[in-house]
Amino acid sequence: MDAIRGLQCAVILAFVLVAIDESAAADRAHGRSIAQRWCSECHVVAPGQRHGSDTVPTFAQIGASEQFDEGRLSAFLAAPHHSRMPNLSLTRSEIADLVAYIKAKQP
Ligand code: HEC
Repeated sequence: MDAIRGLQCAVILAFVLVAIDESAAADRAHGRSIAQRWCSECHVVAPGQRHGSDTVPTFAQIGASEQFDEGRLSAFLAAPHHSRMPNLSLTRSEIADLVAYIKAKQP
């Protein structure tokens, strides 16, 4: 009986882990599509992008920065005051997806 229960737990755990993994991947992919749509006018969001401004940090630079911090990045994207960066009125989930995408660029 115990063995069967243990097995059931293991199976459930495996499903949960797969679900968590998939949701993380989906977020990053969504972050990339938001970045390409809303950010790529000014930022180079991915290698190989041809347009973008020289005076704006690329997402690779932002992700690789020693000062990179998820909380700070989320707060900045929610309200980029005192910056040349426009407020794009992003939702919390869009911000979370973008942070996941930019974070994935860390070495
Ligand atoms: C209209 C041009 C423009 C668009 C569109 C834009 N940005 Fe920016 N962004 C800037 C500029 C300019 C800066 C530099 C701000 C400064 O130096 O004051 C900046 C800075 C940033 C920074 C801070 C970098 C740092 O280390 O200080 C982050 C993070 C950022 N942008 C993310 C984004 C994201 C995510 C999007 C898309 C949702 C986006 N930006 C869209 C112009 C833009």
